[in-house]
Amino acid sequence: MSLFDHPFDPAREAALVTGAGNGIGRAIAQALVGEGVRTVFADINRDTVMVAAKNSPRPELAIPFVGDLAQPAAREALLAEAQAAVRQVTHFVHAASPPRREADHALAVSLETWEQMRAVNLDASFHLSRELARKLIAAKSAGSFLFLTSLHAGTPRNLPHYSTAKAAMAMLVKELAKTFGRHGIRVNALVPGAIAAGGFAADPALARHIPLGRLGRPEDLAPMALAVLSNRISAYVTGAAFAVDGGLALTNWFEPPDLGEA
Ligand SMILES: NC(=O)c1ccc[n+]([C@@H]2O[C@H](COP(=O)([O-])OP(=O)(O)OC[C@H]3O[C@@H](n4cnc5c(N)ncnc54)[C@H](O)[C@@H]3O)[C@@H](O)[C@H]2O)c1
Repeated sequence: MSLFDHPFDPAREAALVTGAGNGIGRAIAQALVGEGVRTVFADINRDTVMVAAKNSPRPELAIPFVGDLAQPAAREALLAEAQAAVRQVTHFVHAASPPRREADHALAVSLETWEQMRAVNLDASFHLSRELARKLIAAKSAGSFLFLTSLHAGTPRNLPHYSTAKAAMAMLVKELAKTFGRHGIRVNALVPGAIAAGGFAADPALARHIPLGRLGRPEDLAPMALAVLSNRISAYVTGAAFAVDGGLALTNWFEPPDLGEA
């Protein structure tokens, strides 16, 4: 059998993807459904999450959930509905995040915006992961969690609520990977570069900073997400961060060398 033939075991594995109404979360959720995995699509936006589930490769495997994951009660409702729908969530992807607005610099960002960014990114990833892990541990079942962090976990973005939330998530990946590893639950990060999705205004001029010469698309993230999520492909991978950025992180104050006409 080819190594990549069956990355998931749909008889025993099921997924929950937050932020599944748009962008990277949607691409990953739809790709999981394409692999035959029953997947809960969670998002705050009813219209987009319904359409995302309906437009999945196999809509009968896509279960939409609508709620504001900044709210603890919505997280509890999501956990209960996911359990009712798929019994055991073995694969969890946290891609939900409020949009980034360039005006929200350190002197401007409101406390409400700060709080919402932290709650959706950090609080929800911790709360949902811990509760899902408790269920997996009780059932003696393996699991695989993937958090969407950012290159700005390590470099300023002029948006302190965003970069600090992502930095905290990057550490949470390591904390959870270390604690859950003995129970067969892997926790990793996917680090997108500049991806033209809903989260920020993607200026095509950014492409000149990207060695592979173009902005990313949500579909660029999905294959790597599935590879890291798969217990068959990535059984020995935990606490790691995978950049899918076309080489954007290599950019600094040195321009690439002049290769002449070569
Ligand atoms: N696009 C990029 O270039 C990029 C770069 C680095 C990191 N990321 C990260 O990847 C993830 C996805 O980014 P994207 O650009 O695809 O974003 P997006 O805005 O297209 O999608 C995010 C989704 O999260 C949902 N959401 C927002 N607040 C929510 C809440 N309170 N409860 C539930 N759902 C909520 C939105 O409705 C939306 O559907 C985010 O975590 C983002 O920070 C993206």
